[in-house]
Amino acid sequence: MIHSRITGTGSYLPGDPVDNTALIADKGLDSSDEWIVERTGIRTRHLAPAGVAASDLALVACRRALEAAGRQPNDIDLIVLATSTPDFVFPSTATILQDKLGITNGGAAFDLQAVCSGFIYALATADKFIRSGSHKRALVVGSEVFSRILDWQDRGTCVLFGDGAGAIVLEASETPGIHATALHADGRHRDILAVPGHVCGGQPIGDPLLRMDGQAVFKFAVKVLAEVAEEVIAAAGMTKEQIDWLIPHQANIRIMQSTAKKLHLPPEKVVVTVDRHGNTSAASIPLAFDEAVRSGQLRAGETALLEGVGGGFTWGAALVTL
Ligand code: ACO
Repeated sequence: MIHSRITGTGSYLPGDPVDNTALIADKGLDSSDEWIVERTGIRTRHLAPAGVAASDLALVACRRALEAAGRQPNDIDLIVLATSTPDFVFPSTATILQDKLGITNGGAAFDLQAVCSGFIYALATADKFIRSGSHKRALVVGSEVFSRILDWQDRGTCVLFGDGAGAIVLEASETPGIHATALHADGRHRDILAVPGHVCGGQPIGDPLLRMDGQAVFKFAVKVLAEVAEEVIAAAGMTKEQIDWLIPHQANIRIMQSTAKKLHLPPEKVVVTVDRHGNTSAASIPLAFDEAVRSGQLRAGETALLEGVGGGFTWGAALVTL
């Protein structure tokens, strides 16, 4: 039986960290470091300079993941890239990335849009491609320049997000790395987190910036993250006690702590990057995963529960042994 397994990870954050005080001063916000830290856990975030696109961030993250896996770009026959801030409407950011990496083997490459659940959707998709036998080696990527769709006058949203990219190399293997995945969506909740307009030919049509009902998102996230964690553990035939690490979407420290409590996991078993990265949407889970691997937290043979929730609404989880 064919399984899929993570063989390398990489990530990239653009520029220097911008702390709350500097952001507040730069954007002229009526806010404070205390308010942001207390409500969200966020202290700093990275913001991509003008002209830097999602494919540029993804390129560095992917090169690092390939190096960690001991693979060359043309070893990759599938790219699944999750983003809500693509370089263009089309071509896909995945094909731009494929070209920048110098991949010429004609492998498949496509974007996937599930907002902050994007990486979990991408991982589940690549896992199914590999287990079907159609593809052998995938780059699974989350890359975002969320700073481009923020309303810098809206203190309730602009302090929450950051830019970055994370990637993994996922390969066919005889031993299971991805034990189970679960994906869900409920479009009835699409209005509580949305970019209701868009930009066409450089002109805004409607309202092209992120809008959010923070409290509704908070309640929804806490509920579905607990449910999908139980679901994916049961689907894998495992128990909560077998989970070494929780690597959740990094939106808000209070949401993450609530999920950990429901899983009876102590806070030190939760990988936290939201304090330094803010919410990087589809990039947040692979960024945290890479940091956990490179810092020596997550070791070979250990099992991590990955889970995300985001606009749509979408949510999902994956149970992974490194
Ligand atoms: N600084 C100071 N005051 C602020 C700020 C800010 N940056 N933002 C909002 N406020 C004010 C509001 O205007 C409001 O003032 P008022 O009482 O005078 O009207 C007050 O703070 C309370 O506002 P609430 O929205 O009720 O604050 P809440 O405690 O709900 O915290 C927050 C807001 C942090 C957004 C919270 O709702 C949250 O974290 N929700 C989850 C949203 C999330 O994580 N989204 C990420 C994208 S979705 C995802 O990734 C899953």
